[in-house]
Amino acid sequence: MIKKLIGAVALMFACTGAYAAEGGYPLETAPNRVNDVAALQNGAKLFVNYCLNCHSASSMRYNKLQDIGLTDEQIKENLLFTGEKVGDLMHVAMTPQDAKKWFGTTPPDLSVIARAKSINAGPTGADYIYTYLRTFYRDTARATGWNNLVFPNVGMPHVLWELQGPRELTTVAMHEVSGGGWERVTTTYDSQGYAQVKTEPVANFHGHATLEAKFKALDPAKVASYDNDVADLTAFLSWMAEPQQLFRKQLGVWVLLFLGLFLLVAWRLNASYWKHVR
Ligand code: HEC
Repeated sequence: MIKKLIGAVALMFACTGAYAAEGGYPLETAPNRVNDVAALQNGAKLFVNYCLNCHSASSMRYNKLQDIGLTDEQIKENLLFTGEKVGDLMHVAMTPQDAKKWFGTTPPDLSVIARAKSINAGPTGADYIYTYLRTFYRDTARATGWNNLVFPNVGMPHVLWELQGPRELTTVAMHEVSGGGWERVTTTYDSQGYAQVKTEPVANFHGHATLEAKFKALDPAKVASYDNDVADLTAFLSWMAEPQQLFRKQLGVWVLLFLGLFLLVAWRLNASYWKHVR
């Protein structure tokens, strides 16, 4: 019994250690901006402009964005395009049937994607989303023309590509050959997605399978602003998955202050009660 318990606890710790996505590509850490209202507003703008075409966020109402400091007027002017009202849910115009036809799969609802991804990909899911949105690459072998490092053969095209600019990619994968032995596969994708593959056998290798990747931005000026936008968008998706988190943290501070004050009162009261007893 005790042994089993220890085993379970050990397993729990083992599972929280390192996070790698399905593709074996390690996740990068997303900047934490969930308390940054300007970042959340920028994230909301990007989300409505670039993601809502395909994804819904059906547990989110537009007027919930008041919580990140937007007025009804701002929401109306900047975020509503096709006759929605501020009280509407963030639905999507595309039907699931069309989506399936176009992308081979239905884009998931993004309301709680950050929490959904936190189950097996990092403590908040933010790291997954942040890395996912920064690791698209051109690949002529794919119907959409795009592929992704953390989600190999993804059905989603790189909808933010204009913000990121063209890139080249070199991947180096170490993997075991089915007949035994190991090989190193180096693949270079040019900015159009044409791949060149070089395979070399590696003798006496005793490591494990790895995937390394290196992007080369052809428009380096865009890199910083793109990463910044993706960090904001990731923060927005994290906030949307748990909109109460801002309030909860603020409330926590007040509760602690109150308890501190109460402690002071109790301490002084205690002293004055016992003053004459001695
Ligand atoms: C052109 C349609 C389209 C647009 C626009 C789009 N997506 Fe997607 N997205 C998809 C499809 C299709 C999938 C499902 C991919 C699959 O399962 O292969 C998906 C999947 C995802 C996933 C889940 C990935 C996973 O690991 O399960 C996330 C996160 C995501 N999209 C985020 C976004 C964000 C953020 C935006 C806005 C910047 C966006 N998407 C815009 C079509 C789209």
